[in-house]
Amino acid sequence: MSLLRSCLLVAAVGIVGTTTPHPRTSSLHRLTRQLLQQYHKDVRPVYNWAEATTVYLDLCVHAVLDVDVQNQKLKTSMWYREVWNDEFLSWNSSLFDEIQEISLPLSAIWAPDIIINEFVDLERSPDLPYVYVNSSGTISNHKPIQVVSACSLQTYAFPFDIQNCSLTFNSILHTVEDIDLGFLRSREDIENDKRSFLNDTEWQLLSVSSTYHILRSSTGNIAQIQFNVVIRRRPLAYVVSLLIPSIFLMLVDLGSFYLPPNCRARIVFKTNVLVGYTVFRVNMSDEVPRSAGCTSLIGVFFTVCMALLVLSLSKSILLIKFLYEERHSGRDRPFLCLGGDSDANESRLYPRVPSAETTGSPVHEEHQVQPDSLKEAWLQLQSINSSLRTRDQVHQKEVEWLAILYHFDQLLFRIYLAVLGLYTVTLCTLWALWSRV
Ligand SMILES: *[C@@H]1O[C@H](CO)[C@@H](O)[C@H](O)[C@H]1NC(C)=O
Ligand SMILES: *[C@@H]1O[C@H](CO)[C@@H](O)[C@H](O)[C@H]1NC(C)=O
Ligand SMILES: *[C@@H]1O[C@H](CO)[C@@H](O)[C@H](O)[C@H]1NC(C)=O
Ligand SMILES: *[C@@H]1O[C@H](CO)[C@@H](O)[C@H](O)[C@H]1NC(C)=O
Ligand SMILES: *[C@@H]1O[C@H](CO)[C@@H](O)[C@H](O)[C@H]1NC(C)=O
Ligand SMILES: *[C@@H]1O[C@H](CO)[C@@H](O)[C@H](O)[C@H]1NC(C)=O
Repeated sequence: MSLLRSCLLVAAVGIVGTTTPHPRTSSLHRLTRQLLQQYHKDVRPVYNWAEATTVYLDLCVHAVLDVDVQNQKLKTSMWYREVWNDEFLSWNSSLFDEIQEISLPLSAIWAPDIIINEFVDLERSPDLPYVYVNSSGTISNHKPIQVVSACSLQTYAFPFDIQNCSLTFNSILHTVEDIDLGFLRSREDIENDKRSFLNDTEWQLLSVSSTYHILRSSTGNIAQIQFNVVIRRRPLAYVVSLLIPSIFLMLVDLGSFYLPPNCRARIVFKTNVLVGYTVFRVNMSDEVPRSAGCTSLIGVFFTVCMALLVLSLSKSILLIKFLYEERHSGRDRPFLCLGGDSDANESRLYPRVPSAETTGSPVHEEHQVQPDSLKEAWLQLQSINSSLRTRDQVHQKEVEWLAILYHFDQLLFRIYLAVLGLYTVTLCTLWALWSRV
């Protein structure tokens, strides 16, 4: 039994031994070992030290993840590629089973120290451990990166804004004599490459222009490649949720000018519009980007509208107050213009003048019968005359006040119209500028 078992064991070992060759004998292993045996990853891989290593860069913007206006940060996701030549990592492929390309751990070889100057936070970029090396020593490091970069974001044209953010790549230490930079693709190709850009977001990629220049500093000249990512916002959602409602609110407010200015209902109306406006602004405050540096034109317009609203409201209150003071004599004429008790009934404004039918004939009778009462009648008539006169004066003052305030009202109405017109024209201009790019 034990003999049989040992026989089987020997047979199994024999089978395993013959079917799988030792990994050390594979050409891939042989090649990797030969390449890395004498390799020093701390040394820049050139035979002639005076020769610069040129690193070719390529960038393809994949998505705009976040545009943080308040903190002036842009978060993008992109494909990034570095290609350089390593003179110590080339081989004769006919000696190694025609292997043209192998992958090597990035940690085992020399790699350029290229960073993005604007980066604030290199977040959640996967750390890919391998790079491809081909038989002539060309190393290609292709990786997705997520960059949070500092960018000066302009919001004055919100929601028709176009942002231009730059990403500057350069070696953190090496001068242009050691590490030079170059473009892997032609600059036109990079500029118009929108194939992999995610289209269904708020932002639309317009172009990625790139420039090469040499930064002169005290420590030496450093090669730099700057990519300018130009994106523009899709404004339709904001037009529907922000601009059109604000224009409607202004139109409603404009409609209140058709109520007579000395009408108390107008105050109620305007107060309601003011409350509506406030609620609207509170609701929308999250949607309008706020930056400490510059205010959006829309925000300015909202504030101007609010100021006009408050101005016309205080004007209405003043008017009612003056009219009330002039009529403090006790006649509690309601200033409501609704319900029919309005200026239409002028007989309330002018005290009832005794008419010929009611007063004329008794006086006439007494004139004949009692001459003494003539004086009395005269005094009465005079008192009526004087009271009439004071009424007339009060009314005259009222009319003056009304005239002034009517003028002011008309002025406000024109300012409203002008502001609304300016608002519309500005928005249309911004939209036209936006769509032209
Ligand atoms: C590669 O090796 C083959 C076979 O030894 C040889 O004929 C060929 O010249 C070599 N090629 C180079 C570029 O050295
Ligand atoms: C290695 O890659 C570079 C760049 O892609 C190319 O120019 C070169 O011909 C490749 N070498 C071989 C042997 O395929
Ligand atoms: C973006 O800004 C850079 C300079 O920072 C400028 O050269 C480039 O023309 C700008 N691009 C657009 C489309 O405005
Ligand atoms: C985005 O739109 C452009 C054209 O506007 C198109 O070429 C590209 O393929 C689209 N990208 C995706 C991921 O659908
Ligand atoms: C005006 O008021 C008087 C009494 O105060 C009333 O008899 C008259 O019908 C009113 N006229 C109108 C048009 O309301
Ligand atoms: C009533 O007052 C006017 C001045 O407003 C005066 O001219 C007129 O004589 C007065 N009439 C009577 C009857 O007192």
